[in-house]
Amino acid sequence: MKNHLSVCITEKLYKQVLILKTIIMKKIITIAGSNSQKSINKSLLAYTSGLLKNVEVISIDLNDYLLPIYGADFEAENGIPTAIKRLDELFDTADGFMVSLAEHNGSYAAVFKNTLDWLSRINMKVWREKPMLLMATSPGGRGGASVLQAASTYFPFMGADISDTFSLPSFYENFREGNIIEENFRKELYDKTARFSKEQ
Ligand SMILES: Cc1cc2nc3c(=O)[nH]c(=O)nc-3n(C[C@H](O)[C@H](O)[C@H](O)COP(=O)(O)O)c2cc1C
Repeated sequence: MKNHLSVCITEKLYKQVLILKTIIMKKIITIAGSNSQKSINKSLLAYTSGLLKNVEVISIDLNDYLLPIYGADFEAENGIPTAIKRLDELFDTADGFMVSLAEHNGSYAAVFKNTLDWLSRINMKVWREKPMLLMATSPGGRGGASVLQAASTYFPFMGADISDTFSLPSFYENFREGNIIEENFRKELYDKTARFSKEQ
């Protein structure tokens, strides 16, 4: 009887701790600027968000938010797509963002830019004045430097509080089996992730 009682109390306490944890824990939204199933930016994000401790990580896959191409006429006729309203509501709950951008012809991949344009039609402060770790990677030696430059210049106008930017060049040489194998890049990202974590 005594044993049963103590098991019940322990279970109740455990459940209360879990509930408390979900209320208190910071929520980090990760979003890769790519709709590729084998996206290297998704891999970089998975690695980086894995370095975070005691936070809830919500990974956005743009394939789950299929959208028409933004157009003023389409918007006037049809309004804002439900998928974008859902994403906007999710962004309201974020304590921070980790973003990793694919570079297509020196700029954002179309799927990401389209999502950003739609989101900005609800709230221009897409990034909610929250801390952001902004990254890019590519198979080439510039590591998405152009898209990173474009985003780091413009995202602050959209409410991003960028703690750091990080570029991983030559992805397939520097990233193997879920890990950054080049020590300098690994250390740089560790330090930047630690700084991002402190800003929550
Ligand atoms: C249409 C197109 C344009 C591209 N342009 C660039 C570019 O300007 N700079 C670059 O570094 N890589 C470029 N790439 C290569 C991408 O960096 C590569 O496909 C990368 O895997 C994209 O990231 P993701 O895997 O996360 O989608 C381009 C690829 C495509 C398909």
